[in-house]
Amino acid sequence: MNKPEFDQYAARYDRVLGEAIPEGLNEDSYFAEYKIALMAARLGDKKSARILDFGCGAGRSLPYLDQYFPDAELWGYDVSPASLQIAALRTPRAKLVADWNALAGTQFDAIVAANVFHHIPLDQRQHALTQCRDALADHGQMFLFEHNPLNPMTRWIFERCPFDADAEMLGLKTALALSRQAGFRSEQHGYTLFFPRPLAFLRGLEPWLKRLPLGAQYYVQMSK
Ligand SMILES: C[S@@+](CC[C@H](N)C(=O)[O-])C[C@H]1O[C@@H](n2cnc3c(N)ncnc32)[C@H](O)[C@@H]1O
Repeated sequence: MNKPEFDQYAARYDRVLGEAIPEGLNEDSYFAEYKIALMAARLGDKKSARILDFGCGAGRSLPYLDQYFPDAELWGYDVSPASLQIAALRTPRAKLVADWNALAGTQFDAIVAANVFHHIPLDQRQHALTQCRDALADHGQMFLFEHNPLNPMTRWIFERCPFDADAEMLGLKTALALSRQAGFRSEQHGYTLFFPRPLAFLRGLEPWLKRLPLGAQYYVQMSK
């Protein structure tokens, strides 16, 4: 079997990503935090005792899951074992697995998949999302974050980023269709990541902008 694609990027994932993003946007882990903050705000006081970061990679979101959900049991799943080694250094308390079968019977109150599905081959996406649905508790919430192909800056970064070379973006409409095909009954969605770090003070405006297809990414929040 071939090595998982992201094994080769594991140790330098942050640097490669940083080099693809224009200096002025000052990414660092700002956008990773942005997504988890949005997820936490949307979950509100819904109890999230066990959370899965599906396709957690080198664990950029895990420190923020730790920060926003300090009492939750944190899990990360990724097909790239080398990425999980880096993730383990970042968030030692997270339970990390490269084998989906290791999660058999474990139900999650919340699942997040950030920028994972554009790396999954088209004919495997529905299966992957169905796996997530099956692992979600009946009252659970799943959050999918993906690049917005309608945002010119997102496209530009995507085209420059070496680890996106074989990836294929999915727009919001496609993600919504995928959600229904995977058996989710209801969803809410919106565009997000409108404001890079220099404009972070404007983030409070996001709920009014979520229908505007100009955010760098979008989210789909799904339930069973
Ligand atoms: C661009 S990285 C995103 C990592 C992380 N979610 C983040 O936001 O930094 C995409 C990740 O998806 C993982 N991946 C690709 N196909 C997958 C699959 N079928 N199941 C789980 N993870 C997968 C890759 O190994 C890689 O770590």
